[in-house]
Amino acid sequence: MEITTFLALLCLLSLIFFKLISVKKRSPAPPLPPGPTAFPFVGSLPQMLTNKPVPRWIHNLMQQHNTEIACIKLGGVHVISVTSPELSREFLKKHDAFFASRPDILSARLASDGYQGVILSPSGSQWKKMRRVMASEVLTVGVFQRLHGKRCEEADHLVRYVYNQWNNVDIKGVVNLRDVTQHHIASVSRKMVFGERFFGPGTRDEGPGIEEKEHVDGLFMILSCLYAFGVADFVPWLEVLDLDGHKRAVTNAIKNVRKYQDSAIDKRMEMWNLGYKSEEDDILDILINLKNSENEPLLSIREIKALIVDIMLASVDNPSNAVEWAMAEMINQPDLLAEACKELDSVVGKKRLVQESDIPKLNYVKACLKESFRLHPLAPFNVPHISSKDTVVGGYLIPEKSYVVLSRPGLGRNPRIWDEPLRFKPERHIFNEQTQVGLADHDLRILSFSTGRRGCPGFVLGSTMTIILLARLIQGFS
Ligand code: HEM
Repeated sequence: MEITTFLALLCLLSLIFFKLISVKKRSPAPPLPPGPTAFPFVGSLPQMLTNKPVPRWIHNLMQQHNTEIACIKLGGVHVISVTSPELSREFLKKHDAFFASRPDILSARLASDGYQGVILSPSGSQWKKMRRVMASEVLTVGVFQRLHGKRCEEADHLVRYVYNQWNNVDIKGVVNLRDVTQHHIASVSRKMVFGERFFGPGTRDEGPGIEEKEHVDGLFMILSCLYAFGVADFVPWLEVLDLDGHKRAVTNAIKNVRKYQDSAIDKRMEMWNLGYKSEEDDILDILINLKNSENEPLLSIREIKALIVDIMLASVDNPSNAVEWAMAEMINQPDLLAEACKELDSVVGKKRLVQESDIPKLNYVKACLKESFRLHPLAPFNVPHISSKDTVVGGYLIPEKSYVVLSRPGLGRNPRIWDEPLRFKPERHIFNEQTQVGLADHDLRILSFSTGRRGCPGFVLGSTMTIILLARLIQGFS
């Protein structure tokens, strides 16, 4: 054998040898998070279908496995459920870029008109465009201040409407708090978006009429079907059968929501086109007048309509739920109600109604709301995030396209983090008089506004709407 051939052979053999060694040395792939053994093809779908409500089943499974992160295979999808704030931060802070998308499921597609908006859209150019519009054009400090007058009018209207109900002999002065909170928040949003509290004439006692009831019921129906562990969310070819009824429910609900919104949007477009309008008065005007670099409309009418559905969906449920629960807890613990009244008396007094400018000084009222977000979250899970590539989190493999759901009660009631987790104790959020209580928690010990690329861009507006609603109800009524 010639020396050159011999050397080439030696090189080749050494290469193979080192390759083999490096393969042997490579550490084994990290395991999936703990969870139930999955059947081939269907995973744990049979158990999911026989264990409703599904979120409770998932939380029970996590307790059985004594874990703060679990993997449950549903159809072809790895669902990763998390109750640890440390791991939640790994998902939404450290690896945020890989978990910034959303699942593509039928109810989300229907509600967003094929992902024209922001909240439900998978990451990509449309999400980026609409997120920028929301964060840099709608939810800015300037717009927040411009819309202050409209929010004030609604805060005054709230007090009048509750007083009218209390005075109404036909209903013996009984006030339905859930109706009041949900309709107040929807009225504030409609006022800021359309410049009008109601689509129709309302009722004699200045309450919402059938149009508003249909609108708000539609919004809550959509919210109840979104990411609600429908079987077709995990086996898409079952969509046509609509086994859970979500397709029919969302189709009808979005029709009811959009019939009022869309006709108001069409009318407004026409006013601008015909020159009947020249000044921007509300969010709809702002959206219509946004321009791209060529000075052409930035948003199509279809995008404006979808974005306004998003604004309504994003704002209607969290504030009303937090206030309803805070009131319920305060009624059960009158000492807390007395403490909140004392704070309002000392900050605001009895001669005027509480205003947005008082908010920085209302630490106790804010602590009650924060405790409400911690203990009584509106939904069992955060809006799901989807992983865009295989990622290792907490030493576990999170496969590409996993459906990551951070558990709101799991975080807020985690006994490792919270002392007496099931007790409503607002004072746990107050450290000293100088430090202001905020409703957001970027460390994810509570999931209120979340964090990262998909974190809520409306947290200032959402906090303000929530705080004023509770403060007015406590201050105005015993
Ligand atoms: C108390 C009130 C509110 C709470 C607790 C809240 C909470 C949240 C949460 C938890 C998310 C999902 C974050 C994630 O995926 O990790 C979210 C998303 C969002 N929120 Fe809010 N929100 C509130 C009010 C509002 C308001 C008033 C608006 C605007 C009008 C708004 C606009 C949005 C938008 C646009 C998103 C989607 C962000 C994206 O996917 O890129 N929110 N919010």
